[in-house]
Amino acid sequence: MIKIGKVSNTFAYFVRKGKHPRNIEKMLKKIKFKADELNTDVFRAGNKKYIFIGIGSKKGDILRKAIAKALSIEGKITYIPNDLDIEEQIKLVVEGAVLYSLKFDEFKAKRDKKRYVLGLMVDRKFKKFINKVKVIAESQNYARRLAGLPPNIGTPEYMVKEARELAKKLGLSIKVFDKKALKRKGMNAILSVNAGSDKGAFIVHLTYKPEKPRIKVAIAGKGITFDAGGLDVKPARYMFNMHLDKTGACVALGVIRAVALLKMPVEVHVVIGLTENVIGSKAYKPNSIIKAYNGKTIEILHTDAEGRLVLADVLSYISKDIKPNYTFDFATLTGAMSISLGKYAIGAFSNDKCLSELAKKIGEKAGEKAWPFPMWEEYNEMLKSDFADVKNIGSWNGDAGSITAAKFLEHFVKGKWLHFDIASMMIAEKHPYYRTGPIAPGVRLLVNMLEVLENGCR
Ligand code: BES
Ligand code: ZN
Ligand code: ZN
Repeated sequence: MIKIGKVSNTFAYFVRKGKHPRNIEKMLKKIKFKADELNTDVFRAGNKKYIFIGIGSKKGDILRKAIAKALSIEGKITYIPNDLDIEEQIKLVVEGAVLYSLKFDEFKAKRDKKRYVLGLMVDRKFKKFINKVKVIAESQNYARRLAGLPPNIGTPEYMVKEARELAKKLGLSIKVFDKKALKRKGMNAILSVNAGSDKGAFIVHLTYKPEKPRIKVAIAGKGITFDAGGLDVKPARYMFNMHLDKTGACVALGVIRAVALLKMPVEVHVVIGLTENVIGSKAYKPNSIIKAYNGKTIEILHTDAEGRLVLADVLSYISKDIKPNYTFDFATLTGAMSISLGKYAIGAFSNDKCLSELAKKIGEKAGEKAWPFPMWEEYNEMLKSDFADVKNIGSWNGDAGSITAAKFLEHFVKGKWLHFDIASMMIAEKHPYYRTGPIAPGVRLLVNMLEVLENGCR
């Protein structure tokens, strides 16, 4: 919980190399505090307790880390700003606190009961801003919780139920295409991925429509509730954590949650494709040729490249039936992302230079770095099929794995589009403010991008 004003007699103050208020300066001297990064000490004065955390000479992400550290010491604290920009401090500290406060312990008998309350010693004029930051970070938490649901619980059916609940809560309209409807529409790509599963396949379309929208945006999400690889089955080590392969869909839901709660002047359509990709006698086979919703045929070379198939139908649906000004998609699409970027950034692939530059710029501010990749024409060569319009992998050895996946998606979009490959930041381990579990990156980034895009890409 976030409040303006004092919430307890425990205070947190982040110490920079530089000047401090007189009373604080005195305490720091007494304990000979060093402002090294994340150096921590506690000072008691009467019934008051001060948690000092060093932030060196850095700004930005270090504040999210520092507030998480403070909250790990005491669940209820009052934050005293230092001499850095106040709005910036509020944003970082609120984000850090909200993100840190999500624990993935709902399936444990003994849940951690610690509750977090953060008071901010700031002017009341920041109330609205604080609320905005909080809503966006909580929407990321909403996505993180959903993404982390185990595969036996977070099934396609369950995800549809969650989407319906969200729509009801936020007053969104919702359309659900089940297997029968998908068949009728000719959405054979998602149906092929689903063929081996005893669970359903769904495309869910949610719409948020404000009174006078300035732009229309569509957000696609890959929602594979478990990716075993299909007949080209994954080895155990690589199958582990593949319940998180629905993260893209969860992030898309998180974005529309924030946009609707903040009543942003942007029309947002979220379209998620939900199914498992598992093995079985009915599973789709390599060498199959399937026709996607936009009429293009796809030669299957590898059944583990399934996310792009689901997105082929979802993106075709967006360009045929929604026709937005901008299309985005989120997908844990390729393992190759971690090879190129490690765990500190996601990939941005776009047919519009302005969009990918915007993602890079806003990403750095949002603390969710996105790095633009090339989308050169040459890569299309790698996707040429002898028998169909396109094949579903670029090469057998993984060459340009993430780029060719993005180039594949491009066959199914019309208009300005940006694809976020979020596989590199699917999961957090030993992270300062994300507990071990899914990160669901991109909610804060895209909501901040939409604030700019209201007025066109600049
Ligand atoms: N869901 C995976 C990608 C993935 C792997 C995400 C590891 C997060 C962590 C995707 O469906 C997949 O299996 N991709 C293959 C593509 C290959 C067969 C061309 C991959 O990346 O190996
Ligand atoms: Zn796969
Ligand atoms: Zn997958």
